[in-house]
Amino acid sequence: MSANIAEMQKRRAGARMGGGQRRIDAQHAKGKLTARERLKVLLDEGSFEEVDTYVEHTCVDFGMLEQEKIPGDGVVTGSGTINGRLVFVYSQDFTVFGGAVSKTHAMKICKIMDAAMKVGAPVIGLNDSGGARIQEGVDALGGYAEIFQRNVLASGVVPQLSLIMGPCAGGAVYSPAMTDFIFMVKDSSYMFVTGPDVVKTVTNEVVTQEELGGAITHSSKTSVSDLALENDIEALLAARDFFDYLPLSNREDVPERPCADPWDRIEDSLDTIIPPSANQPYDMHEVIRKTVDEGEFFEVQPTFAGNIIIGFGRVEGRTIGVVANQPMVLAGVLDIDSSRKAARFVRFCDAFNIPIITFVDVPGFLPGTDQEHNGIIKHGAKLLFAYAEATVPKITVITRKAYGGAYDVMSSKHLRGDLNYAWPTAEIAVMGAKGAVEIIFRGLSGEEIAEKTREYEDRFANPFVAASRGYIDEVIYPHSTRRRIALGLRKLRNKQLENPWKKHDNIPL
Ligand code: COA
Repeated sequence: MSANIAEMQKRRAGARMGGGQRRIDAQHAKGKLTARERLKVLLDEGSFEEVDTYVEHTCVDFGMLEQEKIPGDGVVTGSGTINGRLVFVYSQDFTVFGGAVSKTHAMKICKIMDAAMKVGAPVIGLNDSGGARIQEGVDALGGYAEIFQRNVLASGVVPQLSLIMGPCAGGAVYSPAMTDFIFMVKDSSYMFVTGPDVVKTVTNEVVTQEELGGAITHSSKTSVSDLALENDIEALLAARDFFDYLPLSNREDVPERPCADPWDRIEDSLDTIIPPSANQPYDMHEVIRKTVDEGEFFEVQPTFAGNIIIGFGRVEGRTIGVVANQPMVLAGVLDIDSSRKAARFVRFCDAFNIPIITFVDVPGFLPGTDQEHNGIIKHGAKLLFAYAEATVPKITVITRKAYGGAYDVMSSKHLRGDLNYAWPTAEIAVMGAKGAVEIIFRGLSGEEIAEKTREYEDRFANPFVAASRGYIDEVIYPHSTRRRIALGLRKLRNKQLENPWKKHDNIPL
């Protein structure tokens, strides 16, 4: 072996040791994998190609000149494949200056983001960092902003996924926050703008890191995180599964994979899933699972705003985005949280050519001062706006209630729904029968109200009035829902629809 090659090998081996064995052991002791170990789990075996292995920081202040320079500067970057499909990755190395972001560290991340944009491939960031490199000052902050700018330009062009696998605090939170999806690891990751110490000083509140910004907090209270996973391995494997649903870029069609599940599979159990009483719930997950290929549904934000379900499935091997009201939680009502949750998902699907299937069972918007004073008008408008601007194939199935403004919002025909189906159990009306009668016929006796309620139900508690107007394209057998959706998606594969030219829209924020 030539001396040159030996030198290269020595340097490579040095870079792979990151901050050294002591710090690697400390990382393991916290139940965390190292940056490179994580990439091994995330990517197909042997597919990772590293770049910028030898990049070093250029800081000379606060003892940094004397400190050993560690090649790679706290982040491992490059590309690889997940089930054979290209992805660009960065993985912050907590063993090197706590994964803190220096100017050079940031420029490494920017380089792979630029490459991903050029060729049209997603970016996955594994975050584990003490934030801006304190010794560097404004250079580090500038580095962050360079990443932020690229996050924004890449938004809607290539999918961006962030895994939070350690600290992510201060300005560092804003790069993941601008990516499409965030997965967090329970107990070892946290995200906050200011940590517990600052919180205590400023507001006198005593709070732990986990309570303030751990995986559970962000996946159940704030919706900053889309999923909370038990450990590094689970999070990385979930990211692999998730990646398989995503197109590589906005120029690409959804991925397609072989499917053994018959496209016209009949599901007789759906004919009886709607309970006899309108107030009884049923699990919309069952409807979704019985519709998609092999019952496989990747739910996003499962522990936030459970009254709406969002996630990815496949029909005939091709990705679909599912939005569904969930009668088991708050009767499936639309409120601030569920509107925001679904709106962002609809926009993601629309940006990346993913057809949207909407299952509707919605009694309306949630009443109350809490909702009104916190801006349900603005937040509800987000979902309406998102559906109305979406140009991807949109198929809607009303299973039961579609009341009031919520009927309009949930991908109705009037918002350019392509195929709007209803089960025979659908009830499409301005509101529930009893409430409606109490408003129209104030002052009637209980008996008279009951009679008028029956009359209202006979008139509106069905899909046929809407179908007679053409607002419902067809009233279908519940058992043939999968077949109808598969046929619809085939028909809509070459759908072409464009919104008028504009710089950008002004969605209510
Ligand atoms: N800049 C430079 N070095 C940093 C750093 C930063 N922002 N954050 C951590 N480090 C270094 C530490 O000096 C330490 O170096 P060493 O291994 O040579 O001793 C190493 O990273 C590990 O940090 P440590 O504090 O020992 O780890 P921890 O797990 O106990 O705590 C943090 C992790 C992130 C909570 C803690 O390091 C911290 O509070 N960092 C500063 C966060 C911050 O305020 N960032 C700036 C705002 S964006």
